[in-house]
Amino acid sequence: MSKKAFIFDLDGVIVDTAKYHFLAWKNLAGELGFEFTEKQNEQLKGVSRVRSLDILLKIGKIELSQEEKDRLLLQKNEEYLTYIEKMTSDEILPGIPAVLDFLEKNNIVFALGSASKNAGLILEKVGLLNKFTAIVDGNDVSKAKPDPEVFLIAAKKLKTEPKYCIVIEDAVAGIEAAHNAGMFSIGIGDPVHLNAADINLRNTKELTPDLIQKIIT
Ligand code: BG6
Ligand code: MG
Repeated sequence: MSKKAFIFDLDGVIVDTAKYHFLAWKNLAGELGFEFTEKQNEQLKGVSRVRSLDILLKIGKIELSQEEKDRLLLQKNEEYLTYIEKMTSDEILPGIPAVLDFLEKNNIVFALGSASKNAGLILEKVGLLNKFTAIVDGNDVSKAKPDPEVFLIAAKKLKTEPKYCIVIEDAVAGIEAAHNAGMFSIGIGDPVHLNAADINLRNTKELTPDLIQKIIT
């Protein structure tokens, strides 16, 4: 049995919820009277909801009271949840089911390490809630990525050491968090943003059982 363990980010790795986050933030920006582009959205990936709003408001050069910010956070999440409610297993990203099955068959443990407070609901919607040995999400951490907290808790729950963990991430902040935890990283997405990752893959289709086999041997 391999000593290696895997930690998967959720949004943009297991499911393509990044597009729903973007849509909800973009609509909020529109309401506040400014444009929010896909390129600017890269800054929000992997970042907590609260921090995301701060970044968005900075882009729009808008200052608000805590009360107004709390209202917008609620509004953003409510819109986001309307998209989540409709999700099915069809929205699991290509290649992910095969990799999870491969890990299971080879007795390699894997956890979820996500910044989202909606992680449990999303996993339930797509039928993956019971697949993971451990789930660590935005409700379990006090420090957001790039802080390593989420991945260190995941390693502990997997009863392994950081040096044996391989993190799969689509966010710059997530790759940084993996390295801050002393873990190996696989970046999913445009290498222009994710060049700090130990391995770069364009998309989850490139994350094959063959590649996993190479990494663990
Ligand atoms: C991360 C996403 O996984 O979760 C971020 O990449 C998001 O875009 C963060 O802001 C928090 O998600 P949620 O579901 O708690 O608003
Ligand atoms: Mg992500």
